[in-house]
Formats: sequence, C-alpha cells, structure tokens
Amino acid sequence: MQSSKFPDSFLWGGAIAANQAEGAYRENGKGIATVDVIPYGKDRLNVKLGNEPHLTIDPEVFYPSHEAIDFYHRYKEDIALLAEMGFKVFRTSIAWSRIFPQGDEAEPNQQGIQFYKDLFNECRKYNIEPLVTLCHFDIPMNLVEKYGSWRNRKVVDFFMNYATTCFTEFNGLVKYWLTFNEINILLHIPFTGAGLIFKEGDNKQQIKYQAGHHQLIASALATKKAHEINANNQVGCMLAGGDFYPYSCDPNDVWSAIEQNRENLLFIDVQSRGYYPSYAARFFSEQNIQIHQEPEDAEILKNTVDFISFSYYSSRCAKANMSDENVSVTNLINTVPNPYIKISEWGWGIDPKGLRITMNTIFDRYQKPLFLVENGLGANDELTGEGTVEDDYRIAYLRDHIHEMGEAIKDGVPIIGYTTWGCIDLVSASTGEMSKRYGFIYVDRDNQGHGTLTRTRKKSFYWYQKVIASNGSDLS
Ligand code: BG6
Repeated sequence: MQSSKFPDSFLWGGAIAANQAEGAYRENGKGIATVDVIPYGKDRLNVKLGNEPHLTIDPEVFYPSHEAIDFYHRYKEDIALLAEMGFKVFRTSIAWSRIFPQGDEAEPNQQGIQFYKDLFNECRKYNIEPLVTLCHFDIPMNLVEKYGSWRNRKVVDFFMNYATTCFTEFNGLVKYWLTFNEINILLHIPFTGAGLIFKEGDNKQQIKYQAGHHQLIASALATKKAHEINANNQVGCMLAGGDFYPYSCDPNDVWSAIEQNRENLLFIDVQSRGYYPSYAARFFSEQNIQIHQEPEDAEILKNTVDFISFSYYSSRCAKANMSDENVSVTNLINTVPNPYIKISEWGWGIDPKGLRITMNTIFDRYQKPLFLVENGLGANDELTGEGTVEDDYRIAYLRDHIHEMGEAIKDGVPIIGYTTWGCIDLVSASTGEMSKRYGFIYVDRDNQGHGTLTRTRKKSFYWYQKVIASNGSDLS
C-alpha cells in the first residue's frame, strides 16, 4: 500500500509517560504521586474513580508504577533503540513529584531536574525532538491530601511554579509542550485525571468541572509563560480523541452523538478558542453546575494553544439511550458497540477510517495544526524461540492508521507528527497490566512484576524503521 506524501518535516516517533515507564518511585527525592497508590487488581478501578477515601501504600499489594519498566535506570539503552528505529520525536512526561516531591515547595528538587536534563540531552544526541507532557496522570499525593488537588484553586499556583521551573530549566532542550494529558478524561476517571476523591453527598459533576476549570486556567497561564520564556516554544492541548458517530440516522441518535462529542471537546474548545463555548451555559445549568470564576479568568483563557494534540485508538458510537446495558468502554469512555468495526483483545474498537474522520472534524473545528500523540494496538505478545515477536497484527493496525492519516493530509489537514503509544512495552494505564502491550520493543516483565526487564526488538520494530526511513511512503 502506498501512502500519501508526508511533509519532509514530519515528526515520526513514539510516546510513553513517566508514571507508566520510569519506576524508581522514591528514588533521588521523588515524592509519592497519585499513580503510586493505584494498585493492580480488583480495587484499581474504584481508586481511579476517586471512590476510595484513604489512600496509603499497602506493603501486601502490588503497585505497577513503583518499578514499571525501570526506564529511569535504562533510558540510555531505550533511547538508543528508539534512535535505531529512526525516531525524530519522543513523547514522554515529566513526573511532577520528581521536580516538586510534595508539590507545594518553593524550591525544586535538583536531582529530579538533572534526570530530565540528562534524558532530553540523550534524545538530542540522536537528533530526537522531545515532546513533553507536564501532567500525565500523576499529581503529587501531598496536593491531594492537603488541598483536595484540582478542586482547589491554590493548585494552579503550585502547577505554575512547576511549569515555570520546567520551561526555565529545559529551555532550549524542549520545544514542544503539552499541558494536561487527555484533559477530558478527568470526567471519566477523576482520581487519575485530576487527583479527585469524593465524599458521600458530593455533587460530582460540579467538582469535576470546577477542577477542569482550574486545569484550564493553569493550562492557559502555562501557555503564556512558555511563550514568554522562549518564543519558539510550541504548546498544545491534549484530547482523548475519537469522534462519536450516531448509531443510526434517528435524529435522537444524531443529537446524542453531538452531545457526546461536545462533552469530549468542551475543554479543548476553551484551550483552542480562548473562551467557553456557547453550549456550555445550558449544559452547566441543567447539570446544576456553577463554575466559580475569578474576574481575571476570561482574560487568562485568551492564551490559547498553538496546536491540538490528541490520542486516537478508535471512534465511538452514540445512541439516544446510553444506559449501561447499551455500552462498552473504549479508552475509558463509554461507547455503543459499532457493528461495522472489529474489536481488539481488550474490546477496544479498531477503526482506521475513523482516524481520518476525527482528524478532519478536529481541524474543521479549530483550524490549528494537529499532532497525533497516541495511537496503537494493545495486544498479547509472545516471544518466539528465535527471540522476537511476530506482531503482524500490530503492523496491520498501524499501517491502516498511517494510511488514513496520509489521507487526512491529502484532505488538507496539517499534521505536525505522529507518536505511537507505548513504543516500548509499558504498564497499561487502565488495567495496570504489562500483558497489554503496544511496543515495538518487548520488555520481559509480567503482570505481577516478575521478569528480567530485558528489551527485545519485535518484528514491528523493523517495519516502523522502514516507514520512518521512507517518510511514510513504504508501509508494506
Ligand atoms: C491513554 C493514556 O488514555 O491511553 C495512556 O494517555 C494510556 O496513558 C493509553 O496508557 C492506552 O491505554 P491503556 O489502558 O491500554 O494503557
């Protein structure tokens, strides 16, 4: 299959997040983060939903983030492998609690800063452009316990201290920044997305949207600051993407799809346009939500992002009735199963054409460059006797999606780059499993944390190497 022409400057690469890869969760001064108290196993979802009030580390329980894939100690080996594939961009996140272990200190932890300087310099050694998320599903636990996390406006100041430190310390090393990973996900897994824990009787919608407002203010202030510190900085928002299709042409299904899309896009509307969309007023009033805003907020929000980044695993589908018996979950968001598409081993839809559709609708809406920063297939892999993984299913998934991304470029959509999710196997955010693998590089570790952590190139490693070398024209 011949894909369309990608621009010469197109950034090919892959993505990980600190909390799913680094491990070393208490090393060199790092504080405990939200993700460090999210266990593997039956209690995981309840904690992520914010329903578990007393969060401490139980020595009897396994927490996948504590060691993860030990990227903290092995990053040189890992970056060398990514460079061998020809990566031009590498997306990772900074663990806030490495830089500010408690979150509310005035001065940063120098050892944390040094780690990321070394990591970004290692990328630059191979001409790999770092793409860095400031907050990817981890918040210092102290901010949760002492302040109620993003419920509390004070956290905006702590975040700004952190963001300013990063923009200053990594000035010139990092040009592409994302503020909050998948900002809309805080509505679905609020402890993961915003460190929210609920009490009996809480109006959850009120708390989530107020926390979202605080993140929007923090994101806008950080965008402004990034531009002040270095005019070359490019700042993006980040959406858990995938358009909702109407399940049928019944106008009630069509309207439901509009509402579901608006729920996903509300925060991005603000980050991209600089103000709340007009549909928000009715939604807030019907949901009994009153966003408390400071007089300066309207002005702050005008600091809009330079580009729109998003994850795409699958499209979604909406019916007028989205009750529990009608829906399944794709990338943390409820969807009515779509009979026209296949599903993965984990029940997530596989819809390459949906990527072209999603790219077109996002660009039509915002008219800003796009960056596809997550896409991939979580699958069970088996090491063969020859010491590789024959992951043709992964190659097929990525090939079809890259092809559709090429079609979107032909449609006129400007796309800065593409980072596949979990370019090296890492801990699954939803399930905490290692067996849900996305990588081009296999990591020897199982769901209980056993294994040598040895890295092995999969078949897809050589395939992606060829895709990058041909700038996307050879997908065979
Ligand atoms: C996105 C997240 O939601 O999807 C990642 O930004 C996550 O952190 C990815 O890992 C894939 O989800 P999962 O649950 O398969 O790891």
